Formats: sequence, C-alpha cells, structure tokens
Amino acid sequence: MKLNFFEQSVYHTRRSTLAHAIQSGLILIPSNEEAGINYKDNTYPFRQDSSFLYYCGIDRPGLNLLIDSQTGESFLMGDEASIEDIVWTGPVPSLQQLADHAAIDRVISTAQGLDWIRGLQAHKVPIHYLPIYRGDHAFRLADLLGLSPEKIAANYSRLLAAEVVKMREIKSAQEISELNKAINLSGIMHHTMMTTTRTGMTEAHVAALVRAECIKADVDIPYGMILTINGQTLHNHGHHNSLRSGQLLLGDFGAESPMHYAGDITRTIPVDKTFTSLQRDIYTLVLTTLEQSIQAIKPGVPYLQVHLNACLNITKGLIEMGYLKGDAEEMVQEGVHALFMPHGLGHPLGLDVHDMEGIGEQYTGYDENTLRSTQFGLSALRLGKSLQNGMVITVEPGIYFIPELISLWKSQHKFEDFIDYNAIERAIPFGGIRLENNILVAAEGPRVLGDPIPQSISDVEELRLAAYSL
Ligand code: GLY
Ligand code: MN
Ligand code: MN
Repeated sequence: MKLNFFEQSVYHTRRSTLAHAIQSGLILIPSNEEAGINYKDNTYPFRQDSSFLYYCGIDRPGLNLLIDSQTGESFLMGDEASIEDIVWTGPVPSLQQLADHAAIDRVISTAQGLDWIRGLQAHKVPIHYLPIYRGDHAFRLADLLGLSPEKIAANYSRLLAAEVVKMREIKSAQEISELNKAINLSGIMHHTMMTTTRTGMTEAHVAALVRAECIKADVDIPYGMILTINGQTLHNHGHHNSLRSGQLLLGDFGAESPMHYAGDITRTIPVDKTFTSLQRDIYTLVLTTLEQSIQAIKPGVPYLQVHLNACLNITKGLIEMGYLKGDAEEMVQEGVHALFMPHGLGHPLGLDVHDMEGIGEQYTGYDENTLRSTQFGLSALRLGKSLQNGMVITVEPGIYFIPELISLWKSQHKFEDFIDYNAIERAIPFGGIRLENNILVAAEGPRVLGDPIPQSISDVEELRLAAYSL
C-alpha cells in the first residue's frame, strides 16, 4: 500500500486552525466507505472524502476523524484490520502508523469513540459535521449520533461548512504543486487525444488510449471522461460513436495527482487534420473568450462579472457571424446567449473537480453579496462570488449548437427579434466547442497551471497532422 502524505505539520496546522475557528464542541469528519457495485465485496474504486483527506491525508475507508475544538486535540476513530481482512487485502499500516503520518494525537476504537460521542451528547455538547452528500454517511452518522437519517441531513453544522470552505478554497504552495502534477498528466492525456485520433476510430478507442495514460501513472481520473463528437451535450459520457471526417471531437477529462488533486482540462479538435472554416471561426471566438477571461482574473473581481463579460464577448462574435442580431448587452441581460452557452464559465478546483460542491454552493460559489440567478444559463454558474488570492478555478467558455434547444426556442418564438434561427439551423450538425484551463488567482496576475497544453489553431493542427502521418 503506497502512502502519500504532506508533512505532518500541514495536517496539524490545518486542524488547529479549524478548531480555533469552531471554538466549541466536537468536529466529526467521517471517511468514505467502500461501496458494493452488485454485491458487497465487489466494490467501486474507493475514493476518500476530500475533507477527510484535507485534515488528515489518510486514504483508508471506515474511519472517523474527531477534533476537540476547545483543546485542538485530534483522534482517529476506527478498528484495526483483523487477520481475516489481511488474508484478503494483504498487510496494511496500523491505525497508529497512519495517525503518526498525520500528527493525530490518539487512536481510539469505534466503541470508545461511540461512548465518548454519546457522553458529549448527554451534556449537550455540539457535534459539528459537514453536509451529507452520500446516503451511507447519513446512515452512519444516524447510528453514531442516534438520530434519523433525515435529521442528520438537516442538522449539519453551518459554521463548520463555512469554515472548512474558507480554508480549503485557498490553496497552499504544496497544493499548487499537486495540482500542477494533476494538470501536467491531464495535458499528456490531451496530447494523446490530439496525436492518435483518426477517422474511422470509435470514441471508445480514443478514450482507451487517453485513459491508459492515467492507468500507466497509477492514478485515478477525477470525473467521468467526456470524449465525444456530440460536444453539444454538455456532460456526455457515451463513447459509442465512430469518428467521421468533418466532425469535431470534444475532450473534457483530466487526471488526479497521487494525492487526489484534480486536473480539469477541455480541448476540442477536428477529426480531420484541419478545422473547417466554420469550426475555425467558432473556435477562434471561444479561444479569444478564454484568453480574455483569464486576463480578467484577479483578487477582488466577482467571477460573475468575468462570466458575464465572457458571455458578452461570445454574443458580439455571434452577431458578427450572423447568428444573433441586436444589442449585445441587452441580449446578455436577457439571457439570449444561453442558447449557445448554457453553462457557467467555471468553478473552484482542488481535491474535488467541482471543489467542495458536496459542502454546498452557497458556501463555495456564492455569498451574501452574490446570489445565484434563476435565469436559464446563468443559473448553471457554479461560482459567482469575488475571487481571492490563492483560489484555483477553471475557465471554460463554450459555444454549442444544441438541436433540441434550438427547435424548442424556435417553436416558442423565443427571442426571435434577436436570433436568426434559419442561419443557426444551416450550421447544424455542428456539435460544440469548449476550451478549459485551470487558473491560480494571484495578486501578481493569473497563472495558468501546468505545462502549456496546445490550444491555438496552428498548434492543434500541427498535432493533428502528426496523427495522420504516423
Ligand atoms: N469536467 C466537468 C466540468 O468541466 O465542469
Ligand atoms: Mn470544469
Ligand atoms: Mn471539464
């Protein structure tokens, strides 16, 4: 079993900072559990809970991290592997060895932990835990705290959620280094897509070659790979189509670092050696929007504003191309552009690909000054609040021709003063183009993380040429 930890002091300091912020009661952070696919012992790949990783780095199921917020003392609650377990899994480090890596003060058994928690409850000491995003957590905490799963889901600690997000959203130098590892491998995956894709292959074949880069590096992927000629379907995980001349291939995928930080990169390439003229025009508009948006990133700027400026840029470009007509600012205000870009410009990135989304977007993406819109398109923006030094976020503009949405809006005569539906229909089938980079927000200027991944038309076409000359 390979162990990956930061220095002990990293975890110690994180837990002390959290304890100091919470001030009273016990902080309870459960690890994730193994989950059976079709029966208990045939499990999905195990992925540790990201807050558990953040506060102790231990990558093993079936544990709880307890932090006494008054003394700052920490406890690893769990039971040692039995010989029956070891016969099947092989030797594993003891809980004490794991606790030592994370500078945890004491190891206690599940039974001891349960007694302690029940004693605290009897004295009305608050037990703080994060919002629940997995059903098994609700049942486990229901057992531990003697409440119904429904009560457990409702009674999470708002204070803990806010304080954990406050800490996790600002990345340290060591975390940036992990993110760079993840993004560099993500870049290798994209290079593989660009240099192997040819007409006649299936999406699944290219996906296998791309995924092999992670398998060789013995790391996981942070989310289901998107690799599709139907890029207009935003989260399309099917890989059954064959690649034909004239099509676009949209790849949105990345790798995890060995410590489970996520890369989240999107590139769109022609299945042929070169883009068609329409593909080239749309690609150029997405690329300039990406570049302009990145330049606008600095501490203090609300990401909502960067998103709206990106939408404005896309709208102006689509007016020039004859798909939209009228006043660009008015169209963005009304949400007309969402016909082409119905998603947000980006989201926080870290241990989760949509970082801390399990804790809740009211903490990770919005605050009392920035409320989430209900307008179609803008309502899908996961990050609206002001950016801070040390945040890592994605920038991922896209333009899509979604036949179902176009025909629905047309049939409703929606925004017909602004939209030239006939011109749009002539461009179908087009698919979609999205480009996505991962950015560190820094006072000295935005930093695109990882080694550069080809994105200019000339760089992409150069690699496409190579794919056909092998
Ligand atoms: N990979 C999912 C996203 O870009 O949000
Ligand atoms: Mn993303
Ligand atoms: Mn992505």
